[in-house]
Amino acid sequence: MRTPIMAGNWKMNCDNDEAWELASAIADEKGDVTGCEVVICPPATALVVVQAVLEGTNIGLGAQNIFWEEKGAYTGELSGPMLLSCGCQYVIIGHSERRGRFGAVADDFTPELQRVFGDTDASVNRKIKAALSYDLTPIVCVGELLSERQQGQTDEVVSGQVKAALAGVEADDAESIILAYEPVWAIGTGEVCDAEEANRVIGVIRATLAEITGEEIAEEIRILYGGSVKPANVAGLMAQPEIDGGLVGGASLQAESFCELIDAAAVSK
Ligand code: 13P
Repeated sequence: MRTPIMAGNWKMNCDNDEAWELASAIADEKGDVTGCEVVICPPATALVVVQAVLEGTNIGLGAQNIFWEEKGAYTGELSGPMLLSCGCQYVIIGHSERRGRFGAVADDFTPELQRVFGDTDASVNRKIKAALSYDLTPIVCVGELLSERQQGQTDEVVSGQVKAALAGVEADDAESIILAYEPVWAIGTGEVCDAEEANRVIGVIRATLAEITGEEIAEEIRILYGGSVKPANVAGLMAQPEIDGGLVGGASLQAESFCELIDAAAVSK
């Protein structure tokens, strides 16, 4: 059985006072959570503050990005050892906002935006390998643009992203990876993907994993859904057999709504 996960991606929100307040409110309510793995991914500037709050709780800490080199002249980047020294156990890799595939509509996917952060399938692959080498659990995001969905390319896009992400990763290592299906058009738009459709696409992702790792390991890998997850829709999503949890943006920025999501995930399987 796969333990459900509820992960909060705070994105570029919360200064250190706000991070302390939000993490404390979540830890007060859910610090001894069972039945669900809970992860908080604050911005890098708040990792140390949130680490202190989470110490002694069952809540894990994650970063939002990693660079594959250990140290050196890479201005602005953060290495695996640096994330470990902040207490991270997880790291989000290949979020669509970093791949440059952000925006709810295809028109937003311009070359200019693509160059803002510049993650590609190849850099995502290197980041995953680096994270694994430091025993950081990667939370790897994949998902199609609205235009790709409209053209019937969803399955092809997500399975291509999964194959590229895991190229050259040993099956034993792949077992510890967490995947997140985040359709780009559903992120931050309030337009959640239909639960049955999310379940179907996650089934496609699991079948792709099975080609890479074999079926037994693919059945163990947790695959989350992300994109406008809210207290009002979480039960329907978590009731789906392939959906192992949520990667949550907006609703993770309020302790009350994030705790409701945790409760729903904890009783779902
Ligand atoms: P929202 O929950 O705000 O749609 O964001 C989803 C997301 O991108 C999580 O990584």
